[in-house]
Amino acid sequence: MREPLRLGIAGLGTVGAGVLILLEEQQELLRQRCGRDLRVTAVSSRNRNKNRGVALPSNVIWCDDARDLAKSSEVDVVIELIGGAEGVARQLVESALDAGKHVVTANKALLALHGSQLAARAEKADRALCYEAAVGGGIPVIKAIREGLAANRFERVYGILNGTCNYILTKMEDTGADFETVLSEAQDLGYAEADPSFDVDGIDTAHKLSILASLAYGAHVDMSAVYIEGIRHVGAMDIQFAREFGYRIKLLGLARRTAHGIEQRVHPCMTPLGSPISEVGGVTNAVVTVGNYAGQSVFEGPGAGAGPTASAVIADIVDIARNQILPPFAAPSSQLEHARASPMELHQGAYYLRLTVLDQPGVMAGITAIMAEHGVSIDSIIQRGRAPGAGVPVVLITHDTEEARMNQVLTRLKGLKQVVETPVRIRIEKV
Ligand SMILES: NC(=O)c1ccc[n+]([C@@H]2O[C@H](COP(=O)([O-])OP(=O)(O)OC[C@H]3O[C@@H](n4cnc5c(N)ncnc54)[C@H](OP(=O)(O)O)[C@@H]3O)[C@@H](O)[C@H]2O)c1
Repeated sequence: MREPLRLGIAGLGTVGAGVLILLEEQQELLRQRCGRDLRVTAVSSRNRNKNRGVALPSNVIWCDDARDLAKSSEVDVVIELIGGAEGVARQLVESALDAGKHVVTANKALLALHGSQLAARAEKADRALCYEAAVGGGIPVIKAIREGLAANRFERVYGILNGTCNYILTKMEDTGADFETVLSEAQDLGYAEADPSFDVDGIDTAHKLSILASLAYGAHVDMSAVYIEGIRHVGAMDIQFAREFGYRIKLLGLARRTAHGIEQRVHPCMTPLGSPISEVGGVTNAVVTVGNYAGQSVFEGPGAGAGPTASAVIADIVDIARNQILPPFAAPSSQLEHARASPMELHQGAYYLRLTVLDQPGVMAGITAIMAEHGVSIDSIIQRGRAPGAGVPVVLITHDTEEARMNQVLTRLKGLKQVVETPVRIRIEKV
């Protein structure tokens, strides 16, 4: 039996405690699969006295400063489970790699903002930088793209990457309630943070998408290239209209290569009812890849939680224990492309538009004239309810057009005095 692999864990919260529990409960299985013991030799967290629901291994070294794990001669692998793109998490990962330690992290924010330089650091030190848990929680999608699908060019990669948003949209559909009501229930149930902006404004999804796009397209991680729109503007009415038109609204992160560069976008999408992605409900995550040889693959599972996330963290540790060490973003850093971002204005697709207009004669003619002037053709149009003098919804579905044209149409429509609320635009995605 080879010598034990010595682990230093920073952060003993949901994921950190989950990792300790899994290591203890699956000890024998992991020993067999790795051919060596996985031994926790050091830990760090803010509060030494907190009950974490799991006993710390005997003789474990407690570090008041997590950065000491990088210096410890008792640690081979630093497992960063603190979170945040800056501060202690970043300092720990950088200093651990520079000190010749392998690093495992679940920190998508850190990778989205500093992934490229961290990968170069890891390769220079000939050490692993692994992050299976950073995207899709327990779903082994990093491995699938980097290894199982390595022979493919990807037509597109997209997914439901944030459980909180998917929970909110699912509940809005099930109950007919509006966004604010469901968000506050989700906060009470612990499915949404007190400050939900990272989730509902699409930032968390964008972090994960930028990582997937880098892996799939052999490019440096570029969070700044992601177009981001969250779900706050999706109304209960939009969810109902979507159903009438044969769609379900999902917050997707989508990446593909176009003639203009790599397109990365996060926004609510109308997805066709019956498509695999439209059927993914609640907090579940899913990733769909379309490879030129493998065709479509759908990966679905729990995107968060102590058990699933710990499972992904340990999978990385098992790779290191077996000496299976790959460049973090599949290709060596020196081979990664500094890809152009495909401008959102050039995006082509169909659109759903919901306008609230005064119920007056001639309003519809005015709207359709503006669309015609900008070359946007209408597939269907419905007006609901009659309320002379008051606002009523008008919903339009367009044929495929360019985003830039839709932007011009929206600016013109907002300027009409009969349009009494900000129009809602949701892109239709033929997934
Ligand atoms: N939760 C999930 O389901 C999930 C899923 C995928 C990825 N992730 C990622 O996993 C990471 C951890 O998430 P989490 O949910 O486990 O977070 P969490 O429950 O908030 O735990 C964070 C831990 O970090 C510790 N910590 C904070 N500042 C520290 C410092 N300066 N030095 C040492 N320890 C410090 C905290 O210490 P105390 O406990 O002592 O206060 C806590 O134990 C994040 O990057 C997150 O994005 C989480």
